[in-house]
Amino acid sequence: MKKGLFITFEGADGSGKTTQLNKIKDLLVEQGFDVVVTREPGSLDIGQKIRNILLHQEGFVSDRCEMFLFLADRSQHVDELIKPAVEQGKIVLCDRHTDSTVAYQGYGRGQDIELLKRLNKIAVDGIVPDLTLLFDVSTQTAQDRVGSEKDRMESAGAKFHSRVRNGYLELQKENPDRIKIIDANNDIDKVFEDTKNIVVKLIQESRGV
Ligand SMILES: Nc1ncnc2c1ncn2[C@@H]1O[C@H](COP(=O)(O)OP(=O)(O)O)[C@@H](O)[C@H]1O
Ligand SMILES: [Mg+2]
Repeated sequence: MKKGLFITFEGADGSGKTTQLNKIKDLLVEQGFDVVVTREPGSLDIGQKIRNILLHQEGFVSDRCEMFLFLADRSQHVDELIKPAVEQGKIVLCDRHTDSTVAYQGYGRGQDIELLKRLNKIAVDGIVPDLTLLFDVSTQTAQDRVGSEKDRMESAGAKFHSRVRNGYLELQKENPDRIKIIDANNDIDKVFEDTKNIVVKLIQESRGV
């Protein structure tokens, strides 16, 4: 593998992204790959501070402020961590990325979707995921899994989350080669099997197997 791979994990809170990301990490590490695990918002120092505002700020946070904070965090994350790691041949597994902004701030909050896509382009500076795994789950199941300890974004209400889910599905239709849907209503083992098959195929293709 000359260049590394960049894989993003997308879907609702409670869809099982983090669970599956960790299982994929274990599998790839076992196979000897150099793996970097990260998440948005907030990987390193600046990111942690922005993440704290985004998830735990009390009181009013304007929709545009939220949008720019997510994008500011992404810019820093790409420059500081994602780009260097991919250039060094690593496999980067990232919990949430550009599609979250379009789904949550665009479809969810009603910000201009085309504008968000353009701002995302500036934030990522040419880095596009080789693969995006979209964990699609019913809104009710996701809410049940999250439980009662919700952060600021998770507390946004059922209608909001239903718009977000539809937004993700729209994005998948627009990017069928990059974004692969996984039925995340299934049990953890079945979801992992489906996830693993897609990731293994990508790795084989990237090595020209
Ligand atoms: N397929 C699944 N079936 C049932 N419970 C699941 C499944 N995937 C994850 N969970 C549980 O749901 C909760 C949220 O999972 P998590 O991986 O943290 O989701 P996310 O990162 O998408 O918010 C955790 O308690 C996890 O153990
Ligand atoms: Mg998570």
